[in-house]
Amino acid sequence: MSVESAAVAAPSAAAVRNCFSHGTAGVTGAALRRLLGMGAYGTVHEACLADGCSYAVKFQRYRSERERARILGEVSTQRVLWEQHAVGPRYVGSWQCAEQRVVAIVTELWAGGSLDECEYVPPRVVDRLEAQVRSMHRAGYLHNDMFPRNVLVRRDGYGHIDDATITDFGLASKMPVQGDDDEWALARARRAIEQITARDPDDATRYYSPCMVAGLISLAGNVTTRQLEDEATGALFARNPWLLDFVLVQSLRILGQ
Ligand SMILES: Nc1ncnc2c1ncn2[C@@H]1O[C@H](COP(=O)(O)OP(=O)(O)OP(=O)(O)O)[C@@H](O)[C@H]1O
Ligand SMILES: [Mg+2]
Repeated sequence: MSVESAAVAAPSAAAVRNCFSHGTAGVTGAALRRLLGMGAYGTVHEACLADGCSYAVKFQRYRSERERARILGEVSTQRVLWEQHAVGPRYVGSWQCAEQRVVAIVTELWAGGSLDECEYVPPRVVDRLEAQVRSMHRAGYLHNDMFPRNVLVRRDGYGHIDDATITDFGLASKMPVQGDDDEWALARARRAIEQITARDPDDATRYYSPCMVAGLISLAGNVTTRQLEDEATGALFARNPWLLDFVLVQSLRILGQ
C-alpha cells in the first residue's frame, strides 16, 4: 500500500469531542504539532494535551471491522506492555472516532525520533533493547516488525543515543505454542526473511537493512544471504519465531563492536 493512499488526516476538534476516549481526559484540547512519521497505516504527530506538548498521537483509519479489530489489538498490546511490563513508550491513552473511523493511540513523545539505519548504539542501550524484547516475549507477545524505524531513541546534548525503546506493535501477535500452526509460522518466517533480504527498491525503503542482514547471517550461522532464503533457514526461524525479533538487536551489537 502506498503511503499516499494510507495517509490519515487528523480528525477535527469537533469530531474528536464526539469520540470515545480512554485515559486521555485532556484529549478534547488536543492540538497537533509537527508530523513525526507516516507509516503504512496512518500518521503520527507530536501533540499537545491539556498539560503540555510531550505527546505523540498515532492516527489510524480503518475501513473494515477486521482492520478496526487489528488496531484495537495494537492499542491493547501497547497498553499491556507498558502498564504491566514497562515495554515501549509510556502509554497515555487512546480514543476512537466512530464517525471518522479513526483510532488514535497517545504515547509519550520520544524527542530523538527513530533510530537511524546503522547508527551506533552504545552496548548498554542495546542491552536495554534486548531486555525489552525478552520481557515482551515473557509476556507472551512477538513483535514481528523489529527494524530501525520501530525503535525510538533519546539523545544527550551531543546527539549521542542514551536510551531506546521498542515501539509499533501493529504486527505483534501472541507467541505461538510449539507445534501449533507450523505451516503459518513457516510462511511468516519465510516472508520476514524475504523482506529483510529484498532487493526490490519499494521494499528496500522499508525493509532492506544492511544492519539486519548482518545480524541475520550471524544468527543463522556462517551462510550467504542467498542461503538465508533456503528451506533449512526458513525452518529454523519457523521453529524459533522469536529469533526474528532479535535480529536487529544482534545487528546493533555487531555494528557497535
Ligand atoms: N512516541 C513517539 N515519539 C516520537 N516519535 C514517534 C513516537 N511514536 C512514533 N513515532 C514516529 O512515528 C513513526 C511511525 O510510528 P509507528 O511505527 O508506530 O507507525 P506505523 O504507521 O506503524 O509506521 P511504519 O509503517 O513506518 O512502521 C515512527 O517510526 C517514529 O519515527
Ligand atoms: Mg513503524
